[in-house]
Amino acid sequence: MKILVTGGLGYIGSHTVIELITEGYQVVIVDNLVNSQIEMLAKIEKLAKQKIPFYQVDCTDENNLEEVFLDHQFSGIIHFAGLKAVGESVSLPLNYYYNNVTSTITLAKLAFKYRIEKFIFSSSATVYGDQKSPLIETMPQGVTTNPYGETKAISERILSDAAKINENFNVALLRYFNPIGAHKSGLIGELPTGIPNNLMPYITQTAKGIRKQLYVFGDDYDTLDGTGVRDYIHVVDLAKGHVAALKYNLSGAEIFNLGTGKGTSVFEIITAFERVNKIKIPYVVTERRAGDIAISYADPTKAQKNLNWRAELTIDDMVKDAWRFEKNLK
Ligand code: NAD
Ligand code: UFG
Repeated sequence: MKILVTGGLGYIGSHTVIELITEGYQVVIVDNLVNSQIEMLAKIEKLAKQKIPFYQVDCTDENNLEEVFLDHQFSGIIHFAGLKAVGESVSLPLNYYYNNVTSTITLAKLAFKYRIEKFIFSSSATVYGDQKSPLIETMPQGVTTNPYGETKAISERILSDAAKINENFNVALLRYFNPIGAHKSGLIGELPTGIPNNLMPYITQTAKGIRKQLYVFGDDYDTLDGTGVRDYIHVVDLAKGHVAALKYNLSGAEIFNLGTGKGTSVFEIITAFERVNKIKIPYVVTERRAGDIAISYADPTKAQKNLNWRAELTIDDMVKDAWRFEKNLK
């Protein structure tokens, strides 16, 4: 079975490629390198112990993308390619809408044309908006607070509508919670460009001395210790969720939460990082970040039951693996 992985040189895509190959799938990667480096390919190939066909193509470019479909016959597509920085999406909304929505439409059109029956889409818990956790798939989409989140909500609706009119087109809308951590080898992990927006890369860069201190965005939320609560999931568990979705007999468009079901606060993450890695993280508490919600965690029951998948790695594994990766970086 040959799978097209778009955005396969990125953070989640690279880990998923390894899991797919471990499970015996053949993989073809498409990435335009807008947020990744070509060096990632050699690292993935080293871990996978095989060469992987790679195309530097933009998924909004239908003509060039079609060449890939002419070269290979795919049984599934996993579509990771997308821009993902929430703050940047507010200042560059047109880029975000164009890139994320057009690439989804373009791939879906090609999936129709080449009769590819499985389409797995990287969605986000952000499409729930500020509803009360545990967040469950039967809830309606909520109000998103930024263009990035809106691209995910729109893409979900586009793919659902497409699945309604084509019984051979089946879609898994995977709503990720907060992926952190890295591959055990320490070879691949999250590589943010510039100042990290997300908590874990900010912590690892602070531990390394690249950042002076961590800014904790608010300690006055209505949570156990006042800091924001999220459902952190190890990126390798998340990657395995994609393999489980591919194996599942999808029918139409189906939503699955990929989370652990457990909420962890910012202070709890800092404490776990310090305890496991034996490094102090200097931090200051600052204002809340605009658009942040207090609490977000999944009800993961549906994925556990239907996909026969469950997140297994702990917060300790996540902070340990994230730090191993950061330490190894030159
Ligand atoms: P990433 O930026 O590390 O990887 C995305 C990859 O897609 C990059 O290698 C980038 O170069 C590529 N890309 C972007 N636009 C492209 C285009 N038009 N054509 C070809 N390649 C393109 O991000 P990630 O963290 O691995 O996220 C993967 C997907 O999961 C994204 O769609 C993201 O929105 C979604 N997601 C991520 C998170 C998270 O916290 N990391 C949470 C929820 C959803
Ligand atoms: N935080 C800090 N300091 C930082 C960074 C984050 O205190 O420097 C806090 C945030 O306020 C939040 C928590 O750490 O309480 C997690 O923040 P992240 O930025 O790591 O993650 P978010 O939950 O804000 O966002 C993530 C993805 C988005 C996605 C969203 C919902 O980055 O792409 O989850 O799925 F939309």
